[in-house]
Amino acid sequence: MIVPVVLAGGSGSRLWPLSRQHYPKQLLKLFGDKTMLQQTILRLTGLPDLGSPIVVCNVEHRFMVAEQLNEIGLSDSAIILEPLARNTAPALALAALHAKETQPESTLLVLSADHMIRDVEEFRRVVKVAADAASKNHLVTFGVHPTHPETGYGYIKTDKSSGDSEKEFKVEQFVEKPNLETAQSYLDAGCYYWNSGMFVFKTDVFLNELQKHSPDVVATAEQARGNAVRDLDFIRVDKESFAKAPNISVDYALMEKSSNVVCVPLNAGWSDVGDWKSFWDVSQKDLTGNSFIGDSIDVGSTNTLVFSQHKLVATLGVNNLMIINTPDAVLVADKSKAQEVKAIISQIENQA
Ligand code: GDD
Ligand code: MG
Repeated sequence: MIVPVVLAGGSGSRLWPLSRQHYPKQLLKLFGDKTMLQQTILRLTGLPDLGSPIVVCNVEHRFMVAEQLNEIGLSDSAIILEPLARNTAPALALAALHAKETQPESTLLVLSADHMIRDVEEFRRVVKVAADAASKNHLVTFGVHPTHPETGYGYIKTDKSSGDSEKEFKVEQFVEKPNLETAQSYLDAGCYYWNSGMFVFKTDVFLNELQKHSPDVVATAEQARGNAVRDLDFIRVDKESFAKAPNISVDYALMEKSSNVVCVPLNAGWSDVGDWKSFWDVSQKDLTGNSFIGDSIDVGSTNTLVFSQHKLVATLGVNNLMIINTPDAVLVADKSKAQEVKAIISQIENQA
């Protein structure tokens, strides 16, 4: 059985002012009438042998997460609550330990709760290819063909430059978040994929590999889960033990270290919608490259994004702007500065 594990504990801070600490990206309706979390799960509909999902999120978001799952008819999901964020390795260890107890023979399909995938059918096809590779006891990643030297992604070096999309490739090297120069050299080399941040592996294979490479992650997660309490339908992980877990992503804790990683190429219009520029990238645009969402009016602008939840936004002859209008804050930024929105949040925090 394939058990989806949805990691939903991130903050999505570069999508400010829409994404907030109490209302992060994965819980927002960015595209259409379903939230990113709901779309992540609904996208799996039709996959054979699918178990009910395990969602791991911060304790503060529990009611929103439960409500969003209820809305799509998934009231039987396991919701594991982290008292504090320790990044994805401890979160995944909690989910795997839960699966080991409830579904010992399961294969885990690890998903980020905040990704956009345009071609859902192709995605589901590749999940089956990945599950097949995972049945051979590999840790499987989904590799996306890189288009620019992104420094916010992991890079996967395979033994092939372009993929046969029917099978997996051995990963020769996995490098999490290289610097710009290194990322550029990977792009030039042509045999690297971006790590999409989604994985497939058997529950026991993952736990054994994690035990081998980052035993402290497994030990602290075991303790935190051992001392967990049931609260309504939630599994509340013990704060004191979980605070001792190393703050590390699964990419550093395991993927960079293991020699048992394989990659399946994913060509399905994937985007992690990390900032407003990538939101614009995947949005529907008019002939001059504008994307207008919400109440807006324009004369003669180009390559501009307007996302308005509040009041009419009128633009006149501007170029390359991003205007995000929410009830209590407005962002006006040059598109080339999309990554730097975090600097605004730091300033707000300093002033508070
Ligand atoms: N439960 C839980 N707890 N979830 C978390 C936590 C946590 O402490 N931290 C992050 N997440 C969730 C996020 O909500 C997101 O869905 C997913 O885990 C990945 O975390 P990000 O923080 O968004 O990671 P990243 O984007 O910097 O890097 C990862 O994704 C890239 C692709 O988007 C890595 O896997 C990279 O290698 C990859 O290229
Ligand atoms: Mg991300």
